[in-house]
Amino acid sequence: MQHIKNHSLLSFMVSEKAQGCAVTNPATGEIIGFAPIASESEILDGIERASVAQKEWAAQPAKVRAAKLQRWNQLLLENKEDLGRLMTLEQGKPLAEAQGEVLYGASFIEWFAEEAKRTYGDTIPAPSADKRLVTIKQPIGVACAITPWNFPIAMITRKAGPALAAGCSFIVKPSESTPLSAFAVAELAYQAGIPRDVLQVVLGESSRQVGGIFTTHPLIRKLSFTGSTQVGSVLMQQSAGDIKRTSMELGGNAPFIVFDDADIDAAVTGAMASKFRNAGQTCVCANRFYVHSKVYDEFVAKFDAAVQQLKVGNGLDHGVNIGPVISEAAKQGIQTLIDGAIEQGAKPVSPIKQLDGLFMQPVVLKDVTHNMTIVSQEIFGPVAPVIRFDSDEQLIEMANDTIYGLASYFYSQNIHRVWKIAEALEYGMVGINEGMISTEVAPFGGVKQSGIGREGAKQGIDEYMDVKYLCFGGN
Ligand code: SIN
Repeated sequence: MQHIKNHSLLSFMVSEKAQGCAVTNPATGEIIGFAPIASESEILDGIERASVAQKEWAAQPAKVRAAKLQRWNQLLLENKEDLGRLMTLEQGKPLAEAQGEVLYGASFIEWFAEEAKRTYGDTIPAPSADKRLVTIKQPIGVACAITPWNFPIAMITRKAGPALAAGCSFIVKPSESTPLSAFAVAELAYQAGIPRDVLQVVLGESSRQVGGIFTTHPLIRKLSFTGSTQVGSVLMQQSAGDIKRTSMELGGNAPFIVFDDADIDAAVTGAMASKFRNAGQTCVCANRFYVHSKVYDEFVAKFDAAVQQLKVGNGLDHGVNIGPVISEAAKQGIQTLIDGAIEQGAKPVSPIKQLDGLFMQPVVLKDVTHNMTIVSQEIFGPVAPVIRFDSDEQLIEMANDTIYGLASYFYSQNIHRVWKIAEALEYGMVGINEGMISTEVAPFGGVKQSGIGREGAKQGIDEYMDVKYLCFGGN
């Protein structure tokens, strides 16, 4: 493939004849390659092998597993350029952003390589003199994951890192839209010494088929999913059959709040970072903006001026900030939300240009009200609806008026208000005077229908371990 120097990254690719999964560049519509598709019996065989290999992997000292993960991290960093290009080609995000995701993805491998050595248990003061009580932590067993197209590398490493560090084996089904990055990072893991049976990437006939296998196979003890709330709910129900552990990182509807005491320029910078990352296609993207009436006009004017500077185009082209959206269906869904909001009375601050292919002009909509459809839906595109508010009480009610509870953001310089609002927001993550909150060292996850469990941070590895209590009697 042109643009990729290290061809060993692509050794998994199959030819068209082999009936692989065709991967399309969303910027051009061209097919860029074919990923292998496993048959049902190959997937089942892989699960059996993962179960056998897991025991050997877990038996190695944590320090040995950690060293292999560190080597994988190193290889990811060394291949940043190629992996970034591959990601831009199959996902569309601008090259600098794609290379940034490679670093973000690698950071989870580095972090969990370190955490592998710190899965401490407890000693517990016993209630009677003849007993000694301790806990140890042990890997769950075979863990699997289903990951999305918006972060083709980081959403895999954020799950694979803790799973492998804990001593689990790990099987991931990436999105059919972006499997090439997934197979490429696995190639680097194998080069780092992680056994092929311990880390597997599989595509099946369909997501439904693989989801069915992952949620019902008795050897799989854990499922981690990043995607929509609707699909997460189905996977949880299916996993209930034999009480599998699940972690769910699901939809969001992040409010971005600007109080009248905010630094407006800082709020605009944060809004740009939060809203337009990956063309608005992240679960933590600001989805709806609430701005105090006193600063509404100033914020809207400055925000729109910054948005008009964004360059839309092929992510491989120099200076592009906004790539294509992922599919025609996604584009139509976003357009329907824009049209609906305008019909309900919202106004684009600048004229909206209709662009060809999967490209969309970023839009700021003003005079939006809280009851409009666009405010209750996850937009997942480069559209920023801006709503007025007049009091903290009204604001909190509107900000929490959603089934979701992933990320939220607010800008204020009043320390009393900062604590009050941070505590009142029903979200797993709150950015305070900050639009970029994601990092491997902090717990990522939501409340309400945005999910269960935390990824990254010291909490992340516990999602892949069982606590075992040992009671020593007769002392
Ligand atoms: C997501 O969109 O699901 C992940 C975003 C992030 O890790 O920042």
